[in-house]
Amino acid sequence: MKIFKSKLRLLKQIFEDKNISFVPTMGALHNGHISLIKKSKKIKGKTIVSIFVNPKQFDRKNDFLNYKRNIKRDLKILKKLNVNYVYLPKYREIFSFIPKNRVFLDKFSKKLCGKFRKKHFEGVINVVNRFLEIIKPKYIYLGVKDFQQLCLIKKHILKRKIKTKVISCKTIREKNGVACSTRNERLNLDEKKIASNVYKYFINQKKKPIKKFAIIKKDLLDLGVTKVDYIEYYNLKTLKLSKRINKNCNIFIAYYLRKTRLIDNI
Ligand code: PAJ
Repeated sequence: MKIFKSKLRLLKQIFEDKNISFVPTMGALHNGHISLIKKSKKIKGKTIVSIFVNPKQFDRKNDFLNYKRNIKRDLKILKKLNVNYVYLPKYREIFSFIPKNRVFLDKFSKKLCGKFRKKHFEGVINVVNRFLEIIKPKYIYLGVKDFQQLCLIKKHILKRKIKTKVISCKTIREKNGVACSTRNERLNLDEKKIASNVYKYFINQKKKPIKKFAIIKKDLLDLGVTKVDYIEYYNLKTLKLSKRINKNCNIFIAYYLRKTRLIDNI
């Protein structure tokens, strides 16, 4: 496994690699990240994993500063997975050049998390656009856990005619049903139990007719949730609100347990 902190060195190395699979991450790796990497390792070619906590996608400075970092542990995990290259860029290397493609933000960016996290998706597409320009991968691996992010990156790639194929990867969950997330580490045992009950609650809701936001919100507060940002039923194909539950419909949720914000789609 080769580790690159310099863009030039990385470029020299990958100059002749044709089938690069790219897995962008912000580190503090968990089973969700690992499943993306394992999937990419199954395909012919080299796998690059980036670890970069992108300040531009955090709407609150404290959230950025408190974001979990554990590079030593991450590198151990990546080595075990036989990853070919790890890219650990510095802020300046990523943001000091003018990219060829401008950021394209589809209108779907205004929904769900876009309503609550100002500039978040602009920050995500900005950094991913730059990574794609540097690495020019054949594939990029992204998790359905962050469905809105996945869709917006797809839309950007399509609009800007970038030759990278998006590979969607299913959500990996902990034993208690909660989607793996770097933010789960901030939860205490009680909060983990609440998060698990929230997951079970929504599994149940998928078997029932759609309920009003206020009703579900009250149920969640009763379960011990601190605050609810949104609960919305979306059609995964049309990206429009669903009127009824069917196989293309998922419930999208964002809520807080104390100061920890969790998102999921079930
Ligand atoms: P990060 O949160 O580190 O996630 C990196 C990738 O792992 C994303 O594609 C995300 O959807 C996926 N992922 C996270 N949790 C998952 C889970 N439980 N199951 C499956 N996949 C999961 O998302 C980001 O970083 C950043 O926004 C990034 C794309 C790197 C741009 O900065």
